[in-house]
Amino acid sequence: MKTNPIPDHVPPGLVRDFSLFTSPGMAPTLNGDPHAAVACAHDGPPIFYSPDNTRDGRGTWVITRARDQRRVLRDTGTFSSHRSIFASALGEHWPVIPLELDPPAHGVFRALLEPLFSSKRVVALEPTIRDRAGALIDGIATEKTSCDVMKDFAVPFTVSVFLSFLGLSQRRSEVFVGWVSDLLHGNADKRTAAARSIVAFIDEVAARRRKAPAVDFMTFVVQAEIEGRSLTEEEVRGIGVLFLVAGLDTVAAAIGFDLAYLARNPKDQELLRNEPDRVALAAEELLRAYSTVQMIRVATKDVEFEGVPIRKGDYVSCATMIANRDPSEIECPNTIDLARQDNHHTAFGYGPHLCLGAHLARREIAIGLSEWLARIPAFRIKEGTAPITNGGHVFGIKDFVLTWD
Ligand code: HEM
Repeated sequence: MKTNPIPDHVPPGLVRDFSLFTSPGMAPTLNGDPHAAVACAHDGPPIFYSPDNTRDGRGTWVITRARDQRRVLRDTGTFSSHRSIFASALGEHWPVIPLELDPPAHGVFRALLEPLFSSKRVVALEPTIRDRAGALIDGIATEKTSCDVMKDFAVPFTVSVFLSFLGLSQRRSEVFVGWVSDLLHGNADKRTAAARSIVAFIDEVAARRRKAPAVDFMTFVVQAEIEGRSLTEEEVRGIGVLFLVAGLDTVAAAIGFDLAYLARNPKDQELLRNEPDRVALAAEELLRAYSTVQMIRVATKDVEFEGVPIRKGDYVSCATMIANRDPSEIECPNTIDLARQDNHHTAFGYGPHLCLGAHLARREIAIGLSEWLARIPAFRIKEGTAPITNGGHVFGIKDFVLTWD
């Protein structure tokens, strides 16, 4: 039973019992297919109201069509990113940067950070990415014929690459994983504790780099200048926190969903194993079909959208997992075609906030899959087990056990 009050301006006919958190197949569930479950949003109107569609149980408008989502994501004057979602776990109000800034401030920080994420820098990191993947998979392949993919491979792989990228020590990688998991999937107490630990850690690294600069991401941030001034402590924290959180769960989840697909589709698995040149294109299709991020915007004024009254302060959800299964733009959206061309998905967002880590994420996924396929023979989901999937702001998968002969 829904307890959230429906705002008066929401026409009752537009309220749907649908949530990226609780729809059938959404709550942790055995063999759930959260992507298929949310794709059913296309059976309804292009915009509807979900009374309970955020981690903190708020209602949102849900935009289903890819074209309409792009309209929302482009129009930053009407649909703002400023929510202080991370800081709110601490009862505070500061933005993670650049994600929760709107133009023009957003553009200033984006221009500062963009060069750090260029394809050239990612290419330079490729040997490290490949080494990390290879070493982890070799460790698995020589010892066992079965493993928990997320615990043994996807999570340690992505965390290790990411810490190298940021120039942070690998020593505490398990602690980071715990924080990010509590932050995204824990209850309110765990979220607050995780947020507090992450802030304390970022503040501590920033203070250390101010005193003793190194050649790394946080040194770059504490020494950076915008518009002729240094960054404030709060700005440094806002950047550090976002980068620590943004790249961990998302990449691991993508690799998890991809391997789950390949485990269930042995012909595609064999094809990619025999023709590794196909992996990058296949990974794009899997990013589309198994998109993981729900973007939320806040209306800055009263507007009518597709004839629906959105009021100032309303939340508007642009879920990539819905847009990327839009039958009006994508032919047979629920069919996975690993050779699909012109795959204009929005798994990495759209508009000014397009993911800064997309180059890195794409290379991590493609290299992770290639190294896995090169080292692990035909694999399947272990009999008697079933992965558990979760919905939410970032979809995920766990307890995912593969076996091979
Ligand atoms: C498969 C992996 C990933 C996916 C699916 C993903 C998805 C997204 C999406 C959908 C957005 C837009 C959010 C919005 O508009 O509200 C975004 C933004 C962002 N992502 Fe990613 N991301 C991934 C990996 C990464 C990595 C590895 C990093 C860091 C190295 C990263 C850093 C960022 C940053 C900094 C932003 C904010 C950009 C801005 O506001 O201008 N992401 N990501």
